[in-house]
Amino acid sequence: MLEDGRILLGGIGAGADAKPEYLDLAYANRHGLVTGATGTGKTVTLQVLAEGFSDAGVPVFCADIKGDLSGLSVRGEPKEAFAKRAAEIGLDPWYNDFFPTIFWDLFGRKGHPVRTTVSEMGPLLLSRLMDLTEAQEGVLNIAFRIADEDGLLLLDLKDLQAMLAHVLDRADEISRLYGNVGKATVGAIQRQLLVLETQGGDRFFGEPALTVADIMRCDREGRGVVSVLAADELMRSPRLYATFLLWLLSELFEELPEVGDADKPKLVFFFDEAHLLFDDAPKALVDRVEQVVRLIRSKGVGVFFVTQNPLDLPEKVLAQLGNRIQHALRAYSPREQKAVRTAAETFRANPAFDSATAITELGTGEALVSVLGQGGAPTMVERVKIRPPAGRVGPITEDERAEMMRMSPVAGRYDTPVDRESAYELLTGRAEAELQGRETARVEAEAAVARGRDAARTRADAAARRSAEPRAPWGEPSEASREEEVPRERPAPRAAPRAAPRSGYQRQTVAETVMKQVGRTVASTVTTAIVRGILGSFKRGR
Ligand SMILES: Nc1ncnc2c1ncn2[C@@H]1O[C@H](COP(=O)(O)OP(=O)(O)OP(=O)(O)O)[C@@H](O)[C@H]1O
Ligand SMILES: [Mg+2]
Repeated sequence: MLEDGRILLGGIGAGADAKPEYLDLAYANRHGLVTGATGTGKTVTLQVLAEGFSDAGVPVFCADIKGDLSGLSVRGEPKEAFAKRAAEIGLDPWYNDFFPTIFWDLFGRKGHPVRTTVSEMGPLLLSRLMDLTEAQEGVLNIAFRIADEDGLLLLDLKDLQAMLAHVLDRADEISRLYGNVGKATVGAIQRQLLVLETQGGDRFFGEPALTVADIMRCDREGRGVVSVLAADELMRSPRLYATFLLWLLSELFEELPEVGDADKPKLVFFFDEAHLLFDDAPKALVDRVEQVVRLIRSKGVGVFFVTQNPLDLPEKVLAQLGNRIQHALRAYSPREQKAVRTAAETFRANPAFDSATAITELGTGEALVSVLGQGGAPTMVERVKIRPPAGRVGPITEDERAEMMRMSPVAGRYDTPVDRESAYELLTGRAEAELQGRETARVEAEAAVARGRDAARTRADAAARRSAEPRAPWGEPSEASREEEVPRERPAPRAAPRAAPRSGYQRQTVAETVMKQVGRTVASTVTTAIVRGILGSFKRGR
C-alpha cells in the first residue's frame, strides 16, 4: 500500500493492463479534495488515504460523520466486493490490517473529550459560532481586550458570561475608551451565549484543553496515529462542528514550526462535510480559512476537504487543493450540471476520455483522480478504481470502542474537567466583596441617620421643655450641667450623644451582623442575585 513515498490509491484500467495510481507524500501538504454524490465511495476513499498516511508514519485527524470511519481501528474482513476490487486492479497481496486510533468526542461520549478555552477560540470564531452581527462581534472583541488588560482568564463559557456582565457594568466607562458598547448589544451576545451553552458548548469550553501534540502521535512501530473525532451527534450542531475544526487548524498553524516542503507531511487533516464551513460564512471567515489553508502548508499540514459538490467550496479555497479525487456526480438539475462542468474543467484533460461524461458514469468506488506529480504539477486526470481498505469498512461496536479508549495513550488525560480560578471566579469574588461593602455602608448610613434623628429628638425635647420653663435669668446652663439634666428626665434618648464613644463598637456589631447576614444570604438567596448579576441583570435591576 505504501511504495517509494507514495500511497497506493487504486488502479487505472483492468486486468493485466492495470496501472497503479499513487498519491505522492511529498505533495500531500498541497492539500486535496474528495468529492462525489452520496454513496459513491467518498468515505472508503478517505479511509484508504488515512490508512496510507498512517502506514507512512503520518498522523491523521479526521471527523467521523456517520461512525463508519471508526472501522479502520480494527482488522477488516476480506469481503467479496473488496476481494473482487483487489483482483480487478491487481492488488496482490491484498491483506487486512488495523491502524492505531485515538477516539475523540466534543461531547465526551464516543471518545476522549476535546476541549478548548474561550480565549484560545478567540472572538472571531466565537462570533461565527454564535452567529453574531458585526456590532456584536465588535463588543466581543472589546470584552476580550479588557479581559486581557485586567488579567482575567477566559476559559469556559461562564467566564465569558461573567466578562460580559462586567462589560455591561462598566459600559459607560468602556464606551468612552473603546467606542460605543451598547447595553442591548451586550445583552444580545449574552443570550446567544446561553443558546451555545444549551447546545453543549459548555462541555466543549474549558480545561484540560486539547494539546496539539496528542493528535500528532506515532505508535511504537512508527505508524501515524489516526485521530477519529466522533461527529455523528456533532453534525446536529453544524456550526460548532465547523468552528471547532477551523479552530484546530488555526491552532496547528500557530503551534507548529515552519518546515517548508518535506518528504512527507507532519499531519493530515480531513475536513468532511466541508460545505458546513462555508454555508452563510461571512467574507472575513472565508478569507481566514483561505489564509490558514494557504499558510499551513509550510508547517507540513495537508488538508483534505471532503464534500458532495465541488461548488460547495469557495473558489479561492478550491484553487489551493492540489490533489483531487472526484467520485460520481449526478447531472439532473442545472446546479448539478454546473458542478459536473466545474469539476471536469479543473482537471488536466486526458485525451482518452471526456471528464464531464466520465464523472456522471463512474461506478461506486471509482473516481477521476489528478494528483500533484513531479515539480508539483497536476498529473493528467485518470479514471481510477479505488483500492479496498485494509481495515474494516463500517462502524466498530461499542465494546470495541470502549476497549480502545481504555488502552488509549491519552486515557485519563482529558476525561475529567478542571475548573481553575478564572474570570468567573474573580469577578464573582469582586461582586461579592462589592455587595458586602454596599450592605455594610447601607447599614452604617442607616445607623448614622438613626443617631442623627435621636439627637434631633433630644434637642427638640429640650427645646420644648425650655419653652415650657421660665427662662433662666441670665445665661444658659453650661453644656455639662444641661447634659446631666437630660438623662434624669429622658434616659433613653440621652443614650444617643453618650453613645458616641461606644458607637464604634455598636457599628462593629452591626457590621458583624450584616457580614453574617450577607454570608448567609450569599450562601443562599443572594447567590442568585450575584449570579444574576454576573449574567447581567444585577446592576440593571437595582
Ligand atoms: N473502493 C471501493 N471498492 C469496493 N467497494 C467500494 C469502494 N468504495 C465504496 N465501495 C462500496 O460503496 C459503499 C458506499 O461507500 P461510501 O460509504 O464510501 O460512500 P460515501 O460516498 O461516503 O457515501 P455517503 O455520502 O452516504 O457517506 C461501501 O460501503 C462499499 O460497499
Ligand atoms: Mg460517507
